[in-house]
Amino acid sequence: MILVTGGAGFIGANFVLDWLAQSDEAVLNLDKLTYAGNQENLASLHGDARHVFVQGDIGDQELVARLLAEHQPRAILNFAAESHVDRSIHGPEDFMQTNIMGTFRLLEVVRAYWQDMKVEARSAFRFLHVSTDEVYGSLVQGDPAFSERHQYEPNSPYSASKAASDHLVRAWHHTYGLPVLTTNCSNNYGPYHFPEKLIPLMIVNALAGKPLPVYGDGMQVRDWLYVKDHCSAIRRVLEAGQPGEVYNVGGWNEKPNIDIVHTVCTLLDELRPRLDGKSYREQITYVKDRPGHDRRYAIDAGKIERELGWKPAETFESGIRKTVQWYLDNPDWVAHVQSGAYREWVQANYAERV
Ligand code: NAD
Ligand code: DAU
Repeated sequence: MILVTGGAGFIGANFVLDWLAQSDEAVLNLDKLTYAGNQENLASLHGDARHVFVQGDIGDQELVARLLAEHQPRAILNFAAESHVDRSIHGPEDFMQTNIMGTFRLLEVVRAYWQDMKVEARSAFRFLHVSTDEVYGSLVQGDPAFSERHQYEPNSPYSASKAASDHLVRAWHHTYGLPVLTTNCSNNYGPYHFPEKLIPLMIVNALAGKPLPVYGDGMQVRDWLYVKDHCSAIRRVLEAGQPGEVYNVGGWNEKPNIDIVHTVCTLLDELRPRLDGKSYREQITYVKDRPGHDRRYAIDAGKIERELGWKPAETFESGIRKTVQWYLDNPDWVAHVQSGAYREWVQANYAERV
């Protein structure tokens, strides 16, 4: 079996669902169930013996050691993290605990497990660390996209903590020989995306008749990838990636935020028109910018394409249409994630921006 950490979150849950749709190899899913973890994302696996869910922290070494001894996974995929930049600005502590100390503690337990493995299992074992393009910092218009050789220049508490975790993973390979793989991916979107992030926030706010808060001038550029393409890239890296190597993953899909918001509005105008006949664009509101806001990310995904033959299957147009439709088809999921804690976060992040 494989061990997935953070498999109740947005990308982790999509990964587990896709994995089990394509393979009978079981998944042990270790997730702390923070505000971002949601077992409803995995509801379709209820009663499926191939999925074993354990609520717990990647930093709990006793628990992780016991799980490894009991289930003997052949690979570990580390998705678990605090992932939201705005939350890292409001409160960086959890980011340092999970993304840095959690990764360190996990690496140490995994190292002990791997060192005790029989020779054959040991050489086939992999630790795949899921990371982000934000570790490379910010580009200006005209700069070439981030390659794997771009220097690390993280600018937010979130990206600094992810950069630290990448360095730990690298060091555990160079020093101890742990067979690690690292992926650095651009912005994902798709089903089960928690509505604190740009695309799902715009969809749920639009439908609720609320303002669509665009930070600053809305001209910051992100490189968008449909989440299922990220999952297929991770499967491919696990299957064929070279230990110690880093693979950038992206959709060759750079877009300014305001274009993303306009696209969401246009799709909603078509699929669920406003009762007053006006466009959802009427709800767009420019608000105070994110402190230290990175201007542009762009991923050069040439290495993973050349060396491992991976390419995204979705265009932005097909992926965003599927995503908007998914939110329209899943109002109960949306209602359940908008708990009291969610409303408190919205209040904390947006009240001061108006
Ligand atoms: P998410 O916030 O939706 O989910 C994170 C999951 O990790 C949650 O289920 C949470 O409960 C769990 N978790 C948090 N702390 C934990 C801990 N200490 N122990 C065990 N579980 C814990 O995040 P996501 O968007 O799914 O991102 C997954 C990974 O991919 C992260 O490492 C993130 O940095 C990376 N990434 C995300 C994106 C993106 O666009 N969302 C892009 C590139 C890379
Ligand atoms: O690049 C990969 C990263 O993408 C991941 O590592 C992170 O985990 C993930 O959260 C995401 O980070 P971003 O900060 O780019 O995503 P977010 O959805 O928060 O914001 C996308 C852009 O939209 C960013 O420029 C900020 C802007 N924005 C965001 C929100 C929530 C707004 O204009 N208004 C908003 O309300």
